[in-house]
Amino acid sequence: MAEDTSTPASPDPGPLPGGPPADPTKVWNFRSAAIAEDQPDWGGDLGFDITVAHNARVWNYWLGGRDNFAADREVGEQVQQMFPGIVDVARADRAFLGRAVRYLASEVGIRQFLDIGTGLPTADNTHEVAQRIAPNSRIVYVDNDPLVLVHARALLVGTPEGATDYIDADAHDPGSILRAAAETLDFAKPTAIMFLGSLNFILDTDTAVAVVDHLMNHVPSGSYLVVAHPTHELGGEANAASMRHWNEHATPPITSRSRDKIARFFHGLELLEPGIVSCSRWRPDPAPSGGLPPEVPQFGAIARKP
Ligand SMILES: C[S@@+](CC[C@H](N)C(=O)[O-])C[C@H]1O[C@@H](n2cnc3c(N)ncnc32)[C@H](O)[C@@H]1O
Repeated sequence: MAEDTSTPASPDPGPLPGGPPADPTKVWNFRSAAIAEDQPDWGGDLGFDITVAHNARVWNYWLGGRDNFAADREVGEQVQQMFPGIVDVARADRAFLGRAVRYLASEVGIRQFLDIGTGLPTADNTHEVAQRIAPNSRIVYVDNDPLVLVHARALLVGTPEGATDYIDADAHDPGSILRAAAETLDFAKPTAIMFLGSLNFILDTDTAVAVVDHLMNHVPSGSYLVVAHPTHELGGEANAASMRHWNEHATPPITSRSRDKIARFFHGLELLEPGIVSCSRWRPDPAPSGGLPPEVPQFGAIARKP
């Protein structure tokens, strides 16, 4: 796998062309309003290259969204041909996000969420799930993708009782994230730190562990760490070739991790049952047919800071 690489901070693109949709609680698909493929300068105006596939937009493509360009769809299709399970991974990851936030908001009473590697808005984003349960929930999103930044105005729409904020920052720089997030979150109170599908972009495991430690050291007892992470275990061997293809043709470079390496993120924390498992099997909603859902090669786990 490639060495650790940071993505430079993105320029401020200014106001969103087209504005937010009428009902921000619905699935957000701004591309049709904001961007047309026949407006080749659109990406250039924002300072990013629409001819190079980017993870946030390809992830959006696998989830059935329209916030993506031809280059994203092309690489998305190629990866899907090499690893057909990728769409199941993306859906299982989103469903895990929903169950995790629901559990933390309703059963634990967490009211603050720091969601790092937000992705493009889709259905049931963190603030929607949390504020549906507790309207006073405060959510800070972090991503470094310029198109996610363009959509940030939509993400800022939350309940009047709560708060929803967005930080354009790199996950490699937890100090900057904490400083900016402190404007919205009170780090004296328990907070859920969320890395769903994003620690895999911090390629060096020691660096990734140090980032997680930095954040978890900053929050009090009773805070939580939520991680979803791709692996070549759990039947993800086909994923290896597709990840190599990704790293040659798209950005940012990605890595998978074994269960043992992912366990390092949780050192000093209390892992909740059922531990580090396929994210589809982390406390799944009961299926009409009974039994457990199929595994996907994406681990999911939640732990509490004692
Ligand atoms: C696979 S998507 C996951 C989105 C969402 N968390 C989910 O689970 O559906 C990964 C996201 O991480 C973001 N990302 C990648 N590298 C990052 C970095 N160094 N700093 C901040 N965000 C990053 C990408 O832009 C993308 O939006």
